[in-house]
Amino acid sequence: MAHETAISTKLPSRRQKNEFYRYYAGYPVNFALCAIEQIEASTNSVILDPWNGSGTTAAACASLGMACHGYDVNPVMVHLGRARSASDVHFSEAREAIATVQARVPVTAKVKMADIGIALRSIPPISDWARSAAIAALFPFARAQMVAAKTKNPSWFKSGTKLDMTPIAADKFFENWHRLLHELHAWRAEGSVRLPAKIEIELGDSRDPIGNGTKFDAVITSPPYLTRLDYVQATLPEYLLTKELDHVSDIKTLRDLMIGSPLTSDRVIHEVDSLPQVIKDVLSTISCHPSKASSTYYYKFFATYFVDLQTSLRNISCAMKPEAQACIVVQSSHYKEIEVNLGGSIIALGQKFGLHHQLTYDFDGKRSMSEVNSRAHALARKPKHESAIFLKRA
Ligand SMILES: C[S@@+](CC[C@H](N)C(=O)[O-])C[C@H]1O[C@@H](n2cnc3c(N)ncnc32)[C@H](O)[C@@H]1O
Repeated sequence: MAHETAISTKLPSRRQKNEFYRYYAGYPVNFALCAIEQIEASTNSVILDPWNGSGTTAAACASLGMACHGYDVNPVMVHLGRARSASDVHFSEAREAIATVQARVPVTAKVKMADIGIALRSIPPISDWARSAAIAALFPFARAQMVAAKTKNPSWFKSGTKLDMTPIAADKFFENWHRLLHELHAWRAEGSVRLPAKIEIELGDSRDPIGNGTKFDAVITSPPYLTRLDYVQATLPEYLLTKELDHVSDIKTLRDLMIGSPLTSDRVIHEVDSLPQVIKDVLSTISCHPSKASSTYYYKFFATYFVDLQTSLRNISCAMKPEAQACIVVQSSHYKEIEVNLGGSIIALGQKFGLHHQLTYDFDGKRSMSEVNSRAHALARKPKHESAIFLKRA
């Protein structure tokens, strides 16, 4: 077992210029490409990303012509992930679909998002990929509509916020939509997907059995952060837009499904006793901390996260072929001054499910959402340290 510091191919900057959509919780494509090289995946390999997010692993696989199945519980992320690996054919299909929707909305009329949703649902069926590309193209539009609802915390919008439903001039809206689709296509084209690639991206909860019986050659992924970041709130404009255009769960249901959700009051925590000792120790330290709500809300928040992580790792291990490797990227985390060793926890959980630790690469600090939260503890606001943990299935 080796523990290496600072991989020579240093993690490239998290945010690149000209990015179509800024996803704060993702790793760069170059990182996913390095991980693919490290695990020596071949072009015949099928890679799994159970926490697909913006689809970086899938985008890296698509650029190499490799198969990848990605799952995420947030429909917003599913659309974005698909758009990132959609082929030129899918983009043409999306362009035609937008034109068909436009033909169904009178040219002189002012439109509402709800009208666009009705028109989109009424056109002849298109592929999931084209549909996702058309929807994801409107994400920057949705964000711009909600500028007034922004708060100091970039992952939060004023409560009760709705997507601005003021009627929009139809010709302007469609001109914008076509332009955004073009920009999304150009962003995707930086990865070189020309033909439909062997990528599947679906809605899925990592706490349920993964992959419909497919056994994967490798896993490249990163679990939700342990920062009480509310992933649904953080993507609220995109969620509200998607809700107008697609069938999605209500926001409360979705927030409850998120691993690491700050909403834990409805959760009954069980299985804490079955967690590895290293995790039980940190939970007990948190619970004994003198600060307010440590033994109640915060204990429950951390315990729920680890129980969910344990269930997910059990499922991930089950979905891997013997000797398959997993690269799991985690970010350092604190509760007050207590360090929550997420890397060590992943290693201990992996061990429990037959995943043996091979190697850890540590990376230097990156921005994180807790860094911008002025109420977070000073230690929690320090630049984050990330580790890529490589495990191998026995
Ligand atoms: C750290 S992000 C992954 C980022 C990704 N590697 C990328 O480069 O964009 C974690 C993702 O896990 C998703 N997630 C949270 N709970 C989940 C669950 N129960 N099942 C599947 N995905 C979940 C979140 O929606 C989020 O997109």
